[in-house]
Amino acid sequence: MIYLDNNATTQMDSTVVETMLPYLGEKFGNPSSRHRQGRAARAAIDTAREQVACLVSAHPSQVIFTGSGTEANNLAIKGYAAGLVSGRLFIGSTEHPSVTKTADQQARLDGWFKVALPVTENGLLSDEAMALLSTAKPGDLVSVMLANNETGVIQPISELYGQLGLKDKGIVIHTDAVQAAGKIALEFSVLGVHMLTLSAHKIHGPKGIGALIRDKSIVLEPQMNGGGHEAGLRSGTENVAAIAGFGAAAELVHEALAQTSEKLLALRTRLENGLRAIPGIEIIADKTERLVNTSCFTMASVEGETMLMMLDKAGIAIASGSACSSHDNAPSKTLTEMGLDKSRVRRALRVSLGKNNTENEVDTFLDTLKMKLASFNSVVSNVAI
Ligand SMILES: Cc1ncc(COP(=O)(O)O)c(C=O)c1O
Repeated sequence: MIYLDNNATTQMDSTVVETMLPYLGEKFGNPSSRHRQGRAARAAIDTAREQVACLVSAHPSQVIFTGSGTEANNLAIKGYAAGLVSGRLFIGSTEHPSVTKTADQQARLDGWFKVALPVTENGLLSDEAMALLSTAKPGDLVSVMLANNETGVIQPISELYGQLGLKDKGIVIHTDAVQAAGKIALEFSVLGVHMLTLSAHKIHGPKGIGALIRDKSIVLEPQMNGGGHEAGLRSGTENVAAIAGFGAAAELVHEALAQTSEKLLALRTRLENGLRAIPGIEIIADKTERLVNTSCFTMASVEGETMLMMLDKAGIAIASGSACSSHDNAPSKTLTEMGLDKSRVRRALRVSLGKNNTENEVDTFLDTLKMKLASFNSVVSNVAI
């Protein structure tokens, strides 16, 4: 199998698996227990907290482990809003559903309003979005992702918010950095945000573990009550193995960032040069700064879902414009918000490369895609005759 769907999830690194194994076996203690077994589990969590903090140049005490990136996004929005009686939520229009649906839910409560921030055809916040943001008042929350999961488009949030002086005005800033982590350098304080979301399984760590990094001046209401774990913000006995794996993954991607980015950029350049040579293929937002591993493109004739299945049969895993982030096969919201018409959205595919991919795999993908496009077109033209 040639796996080109690394924005959906990544293969766990063998070092990550090795780090986790003892906590699934002999080191099974509850980290809240005072005995040796408990202390060993607690030590693993402490180490992981340092490693995750280091990935984003934050202090370990700023890290709240959650059950997923989804949960961290929920905690950021609902946890913040729960401490206030009213406010506005300024939400990017191409956010992951764990942000948009959470904001929608909050906006169903009295006193809360959601303001959708439109994007240009390149996926960047538009002038209209900037005008809307300039109306934000102290206490309002802004949530715009650092990098988009479908197109890879990177939002220059620190520059944009800096121009508007959002932080100085007392506006609270959250960013979903789930896709950006491990692909671009992240420094919590330089980004100028108050809250930042991470997810382990996008950086070769385990599924079902995420983190919210937060500025401790931001008051959050826990969304999960109980024994007061994670500084009282996320109760529930910790998933020690997953947390330890997250820490190991964070350390690995952090150490290898420069080297991995260089490799991925070279692979993506090879991929996109090949794609540009195929008639009818158009790469989305190719003039915009994007994650080095992501390439989203549309084909002239075939639906993305059809090509996805054809490639799957040939042993190649990619994502289509309808299934990138949804369970209901609805057309991609990101591409629709960028102004692509419905038919073009349905003809979209996403390739997301990973550190384990090779030039050979990229070449095989390009050859297979060309072959499948040709066979599809010949079937269609025979039917038409
Ligand atoms: C941008 C973005 N945010 C949040 C999430 C959710 O993360 P998790 O799968 O850990 O819930 C994803 C996962 O696809 C994502 O791509």
